[in-house]
Amino acid sequence: MQRAHLRPASVAEVRSQWRARVLPTLHGTVLDVGAGDGSSRTHLPADASVTLLEPHATSARRLERLAARSAGVRVLPAPAESIPLPAASVDTAICCLVLCSVMDQDLALEEIRRVLRPGGRLFVLEHVAARPGSWACRGQRLIAPVSRRFDRGCDPARDTEAALRRSGLRVVDLRRLDAAGPMGVRIPHLEGVLARPDRAPSASESA
Ligand SMILES: C[S@@+](CC[C@H](N)C(=O)[O-])C[C@H]1O[C@@H](n2cnc3c(N)ncnc32)[C@H](O)[C@@H]1O
Repeated sequence: MQRAHLRPASVAEVRSQWRARVLPTLHGTVLDVGAGDGSSRTHLPADASVTLLEPHATSARRLERLAARSAGVRVLPAPAESIPLPAASVDTAICCLVLCSVMDQDLALEEIRRVLRPGGRLFVLEHVAARPGSWACRGQRLIAPVSRRFDRGCDPARDTEAALRRSGLRVVDLRRLDAAGPMGVRIPHLEGVLARPDRAPSASESA
């Protein structure tokens, strides 16, 4: 066996491979939650109607300049916890490395579920907490206060899988993978697809 095959892809590779594989398949109205520099836009089909949601003022201004040059793109300078869009108005939402940063994951996911049309899908790629009790998890908890302070609220120790599973969205596919971080540290990621159910779950289903 070649040792090179044991090394996971870097975080940047995982992100760019995910974008290249997933984003060109999306259609209709697409909401990019925490759009950052808007680079996901270049992978989306040209006929998609794209809303870039970004609460950070400097990034949102940059995105406005991008939107001015691109047909079918608009910017909403707002957080995921309060999305200024009508209910059931979005075909697809994307969360790429953003649920680590939102203030309130449950509220953000509730909002995403609200704006998705029934059957609409949420595509996620997130870095997530390592296994509880592991050294990696301890390390993540140690650096969390620093990264929250200096990396736009990013908390590397978030249990995003649990938040997704209690979001009321139906899990279509959710899988964990490792990416190689600095000094070969393995950074756990979560990739998947969830769908807004066609109807609200009954009391017995949600119990
Ligand atoms: C690591 S960047 C990822 C950017 C982009 N999704 C990408 O894949 O390149 C995280 C982004 O989430 C944004 N963000 C932070 N808190 C947020 C919130 N509450 N709602 C939406 N976006 C948020 C940050 O401003 C930043 O642009």
